[in-house]
Amino acid sequence: MSKSLLAWYDKSAREMPWRVGPAERRQGVQPDPYRIWLSEVMLQQTTVAAVKSYFIAFTSRWPKVTDLAEALDADVMSAWAGLGYYARARNLLKCARVIASEHDGVFPQTYEALIKLPGIGPYTASAISAIAFDAQSTVVDGNVERVVSRLYDIHTPLPASKPEITAKAEDLTPPQRPGDYAQAIMDLGATICTPRNPVCGLCPWRAQCAGWAAGTHTELPKKTPK
Ligand code: ADE
Repeated sequence: MSKSLLAWYDKSAREMPWRVGPAERRQGVQPDPYRIWLSEVMLQQTTVAAVKSYFIAFTSRWPKVTDLAEALDADVMSAWAGLGYYARARNLLKCARVIASEHDGVFPQTYEALIKLPGIGPYTASAISAIAFDAQSTVVDGNVERVVSRLYDIHTPLPASKPEITAKAEDLTPPQRPGDYAQAIMDLGATICTPRNPVCGLCPWRAQCAGWAAGTHTELPKKTPK
């Protein structure tokens, strides 16, 4: 399963200002954990398209986590203006300052160390450890929930289905190229396995997709009404 997805990603990876693409990675380029962290925090509740210009503005002004740690609160808050969910910006600064003062300005590398930092929860710790450090961590966002619930034709509604989806997503995560794999499954959800009008004809997993076979894929994932 991971092989066909990675082959698809090698051809179809989206370009993003923070992303080290599959070709660059193959040449040994390693992602900067600061940039991966910043992008993942910005991407929570905000679209890729909206995040791009903010990401470029932040990293131009504060190229390293130690630069951000020394920034004035008011400057960071005004640079964040428009992204919303301002607690994210306050935690961002707190986290940068903890990394500067307690970790010599160097990003911790493991899930266990990352999750202790302010504003870094299970999603962000998994994303940083997979994408920046190529650890075999599983990233489960809304895209992954949709892909996995369709692939296994899971009809239990969210959020009750979360444990099952997470377990399946973990089983799918390969030991080879886990960082590319994490980004590949998110890209698949964002560009092929979309909420409406999924482009199953271009999907590397169509032959294995139980939801497609059953014709139920477009109804999934089911959600418990709020
Ligand atoms: N959404 C959130 N993080 C992402 C990533 N690293 N790649 C693609 N989509 C994402």
